[in-house]
Amino acid sequence: MNRIDKLIGDMTLAEKLGQLTMTAAGYAVTGPVIAGDSTDAIRTGAIGNLLNLVGPGPVREMQRLAVEESRLGIPLLIGLDVIHGHRTLFPIPLAEACLFDPQAWELTACEAAKEAACDGLAMTFAPNLDVSRDPRWGRTAEGPGEDPWVGSQLAHAKVRGFQGASLASSDTLAACAKHFCAYGSVTAGREYATVDISERTLREVHLPSFVAAVEAGVAAIMPAFMDLAGVPMTANTALLRHYLRDQLGFDGVLVSDYNAIGELIRHGVAADLTAAAVLALKAGVDIDMMSDAYRCGLPVALERGLVSMAEIDVAVRRVLGLKERLGLFDDPYRRGSKIESPEAVAQRRRLARSVATRAMVLLKNDHDTLPLSDTLHRLCVIGPLADAAGEMPGCWSTCAVPEGQVSVVAGLREGLPQTRIATAPGVDIEGGDRSGIAAALELCNGADAILLCLGESATMSGEAASRAFPDLPGQQRALAEAVFERARAQRIRVTVILFSGRPLVVPWLAEKADALVAAWFLGSEAGNAISDVVTGRASPSGRTPITWPRALGQVPIFYSERPSGRPADSNDRFASKYLDTSSEPLYPFGHGLSYGRFTLANLRVTPQLVDEDGTIAISVDLTNEGKRAAEETVFLFTRDKLATVARPKLELKAVGKITLQPGETGTVNMNLRAFDLRFLGLDLAPVFEPGDVEILVGPCADRSRLLVGAVCLTAKPALKGAAQVSGPAMKR
Ligand code: BGC
Repeated sequence: MNRIDKLIGDMTLAEKLGQLTMTAAGYAVTGPVIAGDSTDAIRTGAIGNLLNLVGPGPVREMQRLAVEESRLGIPLLIGLDVIHGHRTLFPIPLAEACLFDPQAWELTACEAAKEAACDGLAMTFAPNLDVSRDPRWGRTAEGPGEDPWVGSQLAHAKVRGFQGASLASSDTLAACAKHFCAYGSVTAGREYATVDISERTLREVHLPSFVAAVEAGVAAIMPAFMDLAGVPMTANTALLRHYLRDQLGFDGVLVSDYNAIGELIRHGVAADLTAAAVLALKAGVDIDMMSDAYRCGLPVALERGLVSMAEIDVAVRRVLGLKERLGLFDDPYRRGSKIESPEAVAQRRRLARSVATRAMVLLKNDHDTLPLSDTLHRLCVIGPLADAAGEMPGCWSTCAVPEGQVSVVAGLREGLPQTRIATAPGVDIEGGDRSGIAAALELCNGADAILLCLGESATMSGEAASRAFPDLPGQQRALAEAVFERARAQRIRVTVILFSGRPLVVPWLAEKADALVAAWFLGSEAGNAISDVVTGRASPSGRTPITWPRALGQVPIFYSERPSGRPADSNDRFASKYLDTSSEPLYPFGHGLSYGRFTLANLRVTPQLVDEDGTIAISVDLTNEGKRAAEETVFLFTRDKLATVARPKLELKAVGKITLQPGETGTVNMNLRAFDLRFLGLDLAPVFEPGDVEILVGPCADRSRLLVGAVCLTAKPALKGAAQVSGPAMKR
């Protein structure tokens, strides 16, 4: 008999339910503390999993209670939200998405896992794979942006990075893909609100990143808080059990979100904790995070015959299975025993700096305002985010220490030792006080250049951070307008560094700034990275992974919308457009400038005739006609102009990159499988339809800037390969 079977045979009901329970823990002066419980619960086996406990000492202390003092000695599973770094913070996920570079995505996850494992952790509640097309939603900051293909690439890379080659290694973590699924479509961008979307959108936009995570072997998945068409995800048997488990074959652990099982009562689908526990268990949720519904409700449910012991055992087996894969039974102390070398830590900081440098998006750069000239004598750095080290890490930075974060001013002082740098906040990030504006304007007098550091605070995006007015908070507009006026009078160029967890709707700012940089939140090395870019030590190369609206009324706005029968570009009044603003975004998906200037030519598509199994080679020549070396990103979109179901105007299928010296020409090669051109037809099953598909290649999702080629898909009699999907997924 194997270890797990034997344990399950020996366990009491209370011990089993302990393995299905995850409770928040912390460390006080008196020692470890557990939310609503005492450490005795670990000794008795009533708690089998913890979240939020950090540090080798506390982890070892708690683990010892479980392993050495509980009856069966089952080790604890200890998890934390290691989302974009642990002690060393990398850019927030939306910013990291701007790299369009799976290798970098993998590397930062791998480094975060190493650092977190040194702190005794075995699990992270990441990656966040929520596709979002609505900047009102604060959690847009945590995800890959608007595109499902990007979400899938990110899922693969992050799972590989966190989990490494073996989960049993002392420096890997179990990943938990979240939040399953369609959370990014909450109504009107309001956190935790209902989601009601078509099954086609669900399958084409929101499920692909989770399919990718399962393919990559993700250890766990977390259902989202919200309901989908009336069925809360925590109780969604159709999507959790039938789709994830039965169709995709996901055999890992389903961990509820924080108190989500208990919240089934407020959703109005469970009368009490017992009913809530039954719904969640039946849907396939293995671990109850923070509701205590399983411990309180399942004994009653068992007695009433609402669940069986066999159903409980299935969940227990999965949890114990994960602990075994993590090597916790063999050596429960393997994580948290290693002290990293200073060189390993320094190398991680260098990675954080280079990734942050590449995550910035240069949205505008008129008159070559950036990079700043090397002969700068006086630089004026104004704004509430100019010297705000504590804001730099971004939304998920529970373990960031304030002294480890580099502000813009600190980075610039380091990067421009010969330049006199004057700085003032002018106003607070939020609040109504304008009294500091005059002093800030004084500083601007006679400056060679002005950097205006504006935006949201770190906590204005992330969870529970929806905004009905996603623009500059407080009195920042008043400050900016005053600075622009002073700068115009004195002919000083103004660069705006914009901090945010979402595209802010600030068309006026984009118009008035000479240069505009989306800095998002760049993590611990933010200031150094910003200094690298504005001084020209590095050319910016980030591309926005989300369409940048010019007006809030355009939201949701995304590049892959379907064509209208009355396109906006017609002159007719009766067209799909607004009376009061353009239908075009301020900046399209993929937009981002560099210090080079690239032209594209000579798009080649071979072969031009392919069957379903064929691979299509696509190449394009690029020339850097600018004066500086730079990296350029090219996007490969497809467009199926004629099909039984209207297809999006553009669909992203591949991304290529090249670095070129001034005057240099090079070729970007990309491969596309004809299989990837298939789409979901009328019956929602993948359908291969013969016909022409356009291949469009260029710097962003603005069609007028894309080179166009074509491929003809030939008919193929039988479908093979892809899983057939049947039945509506939204039923409970
Ligand atoms: C969030 C999750 C997170 C969990 C544990 C919840 O409020 O929605 O993303 O993993 O808390 O911290």
